[in-house]
Amino acid sequence: MKGVVLAGGNGTRLLPMTKVTNKHLLPVYDQPMIMYPLKTLMAGGIDDIMIVSGKGHAGHFLELLGSGHDLGVRLSYAVQEKAGGIAEALALTEDFADDASLAVILGDNIFEDTFDFSTFTTGARIYLKSVKDAARFGVATLLDDKVTEIIEKPAQPKTDLAVTGLYLYDHTVFDKVRTLTPSDRGELEITDVNNLYIKEQSLAAGMVAGFWSDAGTIESLYTASTLVRDKHASHRG
Ligand code: DAU
Repeated sequence: MKGVVLAGGNGTRLLPMTKVTNKHLLPVYDQPMIMYPLKTLMAGGIDDIMIVSGKGHAGHFLELLGSGHDLGVRLSYAVQEKAGGIAEALALTEDFADDASLAVILGDNIFEDTFDFSTFTTGARIYLKSVKDAARFGVATLLDDKVTEIIEKPAQPKTDLAVTGLYLYDHTVFDKVRTLTPSDRGELEITDVNNLYIKEQSLAAGMVAGFWSDAGTIESLYTASTLVRDKHASHRG
């Protein structure tokens, strides 16, 4: 299995910090944000990883991470010209994937949990977390432990189960992305991809343990930094 970190997008919810730098280079406590999703993939045993970034700061990712040698992984890079959505960014990794399955993680997602990707074979797998502010996320409805529907940022969430930004996909994901049309916010939505897997009855879901946060808003960036700091402090005793 190969890995993908999606670090494109405009980061407008973090202005003015993202006026002159990229969201995923901002600090989450003691590390640039992108280090966290990278380490989540690495902890799951993935060592061949593509980073998709926007045009503006692609060179900064290269300067920070290089070939991946220092981290003990192989890194490749792709550039998303415009913030056309998470699924559009994912489409850029088709040649890199070369028919392998992919673990895809959003560049602003911070997980305490670790994951075992080795049991994944076909279809797709998503990871859910019970949250207080579900309306900010893709929200899953379950029937007997099976996800029946995901709604992107529902005004009135039917459950408190947020779809986190970690997804496992088989190689059919690229055919699915090709069938998408842009949403009301003008993006190719990853939630639409996941709903296509639900239609095929090939979407599995797991729960996330420990803390999870995106770091894409000023409040959630602050929360993520605090959670990481608290964890460091508890390790120091
Ligand atoms: O954090 C989990 C949530 O992420 C999910 O619950 C939602 O279903 C999913 O749509 C997404 O929601 P957001 O609205 O928070 O996504 P955002 O636009 O903040 O993008 C998240 C990351 O995806 C961002 O840090 C980089 C990457 N991205 C995003 C866009 C729009 C790209 O690489 N390219 C893009 O064009």
